[in-house]
Amino acid sequence: MVTPTETETMPQPHKFDLTAKNCEFLDRHLTFPLLEFLCIKAIYNKQEMLEFILDTVNKTNMIDYIMDTRKRLNLGDEMPEELNQRKTKVLQTLKELQSEVAPIMKATEILKNSEMMKDSKTFLNVLQKDYNFKSENVESAYKLAKYLYECGNYQDSTSYLYFCLLVMSPNDKNYLNVLWGKLAAEILILNWSSALEDLSRLREFIDNSNFTPMQALQQRTWLIHWGVLVFFNHPKGRDLIIEMFLNKPLYLNAIQTMCPHILRYLATAVIINRQKRNALKDLIKVIQQESYNYRDPITEFLECLYVNFNFEQARMKLHECQTVILNDFFIVSCLDEFVENARLMIFETFCRIHQCITISMFADKLNMKPHDAECWIVNLIRNARLNAKIDSKLGHVVMGTPPLSPYQQLVEKIDSLSVRSEHLAGLVDRKNKQKNQESIDSWKYY
Ligand SMILES: *[C@@H]1O[C@H](CO)[C@@H](O)[C@H](O)[C@H]1NC(C)=O
Repeated sequence: MVTPTETETMPQPHKFDLTAKNCEFLDRHLTFPLLEFLCIKAIYNKQEMLEFILDTVNKTNMIDYIMDTRKRLNLGDEMPEELNQRKTKVLQTLKELQSEVAPIMKATEILKNSEMMKDSKTFLNVLQKDYNFKSENVESAYKLAKYLYECGNYQDSTSYLYFCLLVMSPNDKNYLNVLWGKLAAEILILNWSSALEDLSRLREFIDNSNFTPMQALQQRTWLIHWGVLVFFNHPKGRDLIIEMFLNKPLYLNAIQTMCPHILRYLATAVIINRQKRNALKDLIKVIQQESYNYRDPITEFLECLYVNFNFEQARMKLHECQTVILNDFFIVSCLDEFVENARLMIFETFCRIHQCITISMFADKLNMKPHDAECWIVNLIRNARLNAKIDSKLGHVVMGTPPLSPYQQLVEKIDSLSVRSEHLAGLVDRKNKQKNQESIDSWKYY
């Protein structure tokens, strides 16, 4: 029988893969989705990945997962006796813990639909008065919740953790653990609205606690990593991640001090969030400050485009970004949106510097076929995101706005783009009226 040892480490990291770094700040159970994701990507040796998963899952009570991983490693159909014994023992412990908590859970069940559940003080009073509820019961519920979690039964675990939150004092020695456990369990059952609530609760707790600065920094670093999982799944997450990571100095400081690699996720969020373009200025400042500690194709893409105005390099970086995103569990679902918005950024910036561009030149810059590029630009203009006109005959795009010097462009573009484009829209309107009289036939308007 092969027993993986404690010394087994994650396979040698791939150039842009952040999984090993991210896993340092995640709960063991939260790492499984990331590891399984890597397992189906071709960037690591599959055998080594599976061995690492087996090593990790062995430290939990998820016996079925252990057995399944052994099978995938072809370690034989016959399960070692030790594993069967472990399974029996786990089930026995679960039973014991459940029987300890059963009377109190029955009471909770009875009270569930009454108004009392809404107010935890009243709820606790009734439990104490009518159901002989004692502080040991809270401890038992906590132990059961933790054990269920260890066994991979996250759904049931959240119920007991919810109960704990309801009856526990924030001074309870386990309170912080309950907050973390609940957040992890909600993430693992993909309940993003509950996870977001737990994330806010935890943040409030950490920000108002008496931690030493070092402890607080550590806690925030964890919260940032867990937050990424929530933010890229909850519909409001792409605003909230910018709000928390970029606009809250305590969290930005934690990122810069402890985990500058998180800039990848912040940059991705800003790129795909068209409504938050004014975050670009601050983001680029941070990316430049940290560029000696951390850079990847995504942060470099922004530098190429907004610091160096190097479109050719931006285009090449965008190409690399796609590989990075495709292999990053946190942001893989944003790939198409990312590419669409990154192209839009190149186009907007390009157009602000050049007054008239040919579609074929632009298609080349964006790695698109000329016809696709034209359709794409037409859509942009049609959706009123861009003040430009297309001359199909000549294959030209002509911008409504006057060209700017790169320096002007940087200042103007980054400083409150939304206000600026409103102003420009008016300006362009007037200019267009003059121009139209000269050559109204050759233009298509959208
Ligand atoms: C998430 O959890 C909340 C609270 O437990 C529950 O009301 C809701 O139905 C859950 N949502 C999903 C999608 O499971």
